[in-house]
Amino acid sequence: MAGSAHEIVEKNTGLLVVFIMVAISFATLVEIVPLMYQKDLNNPVPSMKPWSALEMEGRDIYIREGCHVCHTQMVRPLRAEVERYGPYSRAGESTWDHPFLWGSKRTGPDLARVGGRYSDDWQRQHLINPRSLVPESVMPAYPWLAETTLDGEQTAAKLNLFKTRFGLPYSDTQIELAKDEVQGKTELDALVAYLQQLGHAMKGQR
Ligand code: HEC
Repeated sequence: MAGSAHEIVEKNTGLLVVFIMVAISFATLVEIVPLMYQKDLNNPVPSMKPWSALEMEGRDIYIREGCHVCHTQMVRPLRAEVERYGPYSRAGESTWDHPFLWGSKRTGPDLARVGGRYSDDWQRQHLINPRSLVPESVMPAYPWLAETTLDGEQTAAKLNLFKTRFGLPYSDTQIELAKDEVQGKTELDALVAYLQQLGHAMKGQR
């Protein structure tokens, strides 16, 4: 018979589109839905600790300056990446990250494991003038960070938001002391503090 089921579908674009949609939706369900129920993906990695007040301010500066446009925070489970950067990223490391800063383009290296790789002094000088340390660098310089002081007016509110909205275990004391912790520090201090804690939860793991 000329009109086999296959031929009917192939000759009828509308029907073909419908079947393609069904196939894709099914694949999506099979791949994504189980992830929503996996405990180790949805719960914070146990060794994670919430950002300090200063680190939280640093994180906001990281976002403001668009560091995530050139840097990812996502080590893929590929040998070349694990050898270069360290343990591949677990989903549970990002449960507190709102918005997450995985990024999608690497003009510079991945930063998910950069904490502790360099000294504070190296990080400071690199941000003020990348070319003084890495002559061929195309990273922009951020000299104003060293000259801008934080007033800490919003810091307690930020910690409180992450506690109430996203479940970070901040104590009341931490929130009360937040302003004092950042007041008078520079934006550079905050950003370096943020960079230096990246990846701490996965230290020593593979
Ligand atoms: C235009 C793209 C670009 C932007 C924007 C950018 N970077 Fe970079 N970054 C690079 C490149 C390229 C390198 C590698 C050369 C170097 O070390 O300077 C780099 C290197 C780094 C390194 C060293 C990483 C390592 O493992 O050696 C750190 C840390 C860093 N950047 C932090 C930042 C921070 C923080 C910001 C935002 C304030 C930022 N970058 C913005 C391109 C960029």
